[in-house]
Amino acid sequence: MNYSLVIEDRKSTREYKKKAVGADVGDAIRAYHDNGCMRLFPEINTEIFITGSEDKEKLEGAAGYKEFIAGSPSYMLLLTEPHEYSGINAGYMAEDISLMLIDKGYGVCFVTFSDSDAVKRVIGIESEKEVAAILAFGNPERARKKMHVNLLTMAGISFREKQQYFAPKKGALDLAYVDRFGNKDDVDEQIDFYGDLLWESLLAASNSPSYMNRQPYAFIIKEHRLILVSVPDKWTDDIDKDLNLGVVMQHVAAVALPYNGSAKWTMGGQDVEGLPEGGKVIAEFEI
Ligand SMILES: Cc1cc2nc3c(=O)[nH]c(=O)nc-3n(C[C@H](O)[C@H](O)[C@H](O)COP(=O)(O)O)c2cc1C
Repeated sequence: MNYSLVIEDRKSTREYKKKAVGADVGDAIRAYHDNGCMRLFPEINTEIFITGSEDKEKLEGAAGYKEFIAGSPSYMLLLTEPHEYSGINAGYMAEDISLMLIDKGYGVCFVTFSDSDAVKRVIGIESEKEVAAILAFGNPERARKKMHVNLLTMAGISFREKQQYFAPKKGALDLAYVDRFGNKDDVDEQIDFYGDLLWESLLAASNSPSYMNRQPYAFIIKEHRLILVSVPDKWTDDIDKDLNLGVVMQHVAAVALPYNGSAKWTMGGQDVEGLPEGGKVIAEFEI
């Protein structure tokens, strides 16, 4: 897969054709999960559960922005054993699976949830592992206009929330600081200095899906390292925060691979000056 191209083109699909995908797509997801999927922590055991649109209503009661997904998607649930980084790892893996599906022409959308047990109960999942990520996927309907109709007819969602769907993404330069949080001095020069690896990484990061499109993170360029920090966001709970971080880490790692096959994220790292209260250093990447 040409990750740069797929990442550049990707967008969430919320309208699916009535014709559901065949069982072979679920099989392909399972096979990819077992063999080929990018993993941040290969030692964390995960498992895939696939269900069809017959479970859509049940799932909507327990997950997702209300009434946002139209048509007949299937759903992929990524289950994980508990681990300090199981949420970030799940976001990383689910985004890689999502890009694999998009590359094959399917539509995909993350579905938020806040209670793994509730999701397992409504779907009837008996595994001891926890639900860590949910993706809707299926044959995409190309009808952007309809999405507005959906939005306007939705009850119980505030205008401020709806606005998030149309908020432009943060650009690569919006996400980057030099040496300390908030410092934009020399950002262009630094990006020039590190060349395509850094620029492509930041571009891919800026095109990451995130809960409500909030992108509550930033990157500090410092001493040959790209340091990922999370920033507090009142809309984003801990599950979505970790998924967002895993997603953005997958984008960076995927586009950096051709430049430096052995580059990978190291969790944690030195303190970063100037972080807002509640901000946290998540991981660093050698550039
Ligand atoms: C953790 C996470 C949870 C999300 N939950 C939902 C959801 O429940 N329903 C939905 O329609 N979109 C959901 N999204 C998709 C985001 O709203 C979407 O990525 C963002 O609006 C940017 O749009 P784009 O993906 O088309 O670039 C989620 C994305 C992430 C990463």
